[in-house]
Amino acid sequence: MLPCQLNIAIDGPAGAGKSSVARAVAQALGLVYLDTGAMYRAITWKALQMGVPLTDVDALSSLAAATDFHWDSENGILELYMDGKPLPAAIRSAEVTQQVSLVASYEQVRKEMRQKQRALGNGNGVVMDGRDIGTAVMPNAPLKIFLTASLEERAERRLRELGQDLSLLPQMMRSLAERDHKDSSREHSPLSIAEDAIIIDTTGLSLSQVVDLVIGHAKRVCFGEGE
Ligand code: CDP
Repeated sequence: MLPCQLNIAIDGPAGAGKSSVARAVAQALGLVYLDTGAMYRAITWKALQMGVPLTDVDALSSLAAATDFHWDSENGILELYMDGKPLPAAIRSAEVTQQVSLVASYEQVRKEMRQKQRALGNGNGVVMDGRDIGTAVMPNAPLKIFLTASLEERAERRLRELGQDLSLLPQMMRSLAERDHKDSSREHSPLSIAEDAIIIDTTGLSLSQVVDLVIGHAKRVCFGEGE
C-alpha cells in the first residue's frame, strides 16, 4: 500500500475503544499514535505526586507548561515519555481516573496541552485520540471519527480491559456516565462531535471491524478509493 500520511482525529466518550482503534489504525497505516487522554492522566498523576492542589489552576497550568513530553523509541516502537521516563502505569489508577476530568476542565491547562499535542503530532501523519481533537487540537484534520457505543457495552469493555469481574457492571456504568457528563458539560472544549466527523456506533462491532471501517475511510480520503 502507498503511504497514506494524513492526520486522523478520533474522539468519543470513555470506553468507546478509541485507544485500541487508534493504535491499530496507526500501525496499519504507518502513522504515529498519540493518546492525548494519557497526557491528561499523566499531568493529573504528576500533580497528585507533587501535592499540587487540583483546584489551583495557576499551579496546574505552570506544571503542565514545565512538563516535557517527547517521543522515544523502545525496541523500535515510538513511546511517549514524560520528563525523560515512560508514562507510569499509575496514570490508569482509580484515583487518577476519578480526578482527571477536573484537571482537564481548566482552559489554562488545556491550552498548554493542546500546544504540546500539536507539536508531538507534527510530521508525517498522526492518529490522535481524545475528546477535543477534531474540534480544537486538529480542526483541519482531513479525517475525523467520532466513536461511540452503548453505555453498557463501554462499561463491559472497560471491565474486561482492567481484568475485573462483570458483576461490577452497574458501578462501572455509573463511573463512565459521570465522567462523560463532566467531559461533555464543561465550559472549555467539551466532548462534542465535530460538524464534519464521521460517527461510528461500535455497539456490537468487534475491534477489527471498527479498525477496518476507519482504515476504509482513511484510504478513501488518501486515495479516493471506494467512492
Ligand atoms: O480511555 P478513557 O476513555 O478512560 O479516557 P482517556 O482518553 O484516558 O481520557 C481521560 C480523561 O482526560 C477524559 O475523561 C477527559 O476528562 C480528559 N481528556 C480531555 O479532556 N481531552 C482529551 N483530548 C483527552 C482526554
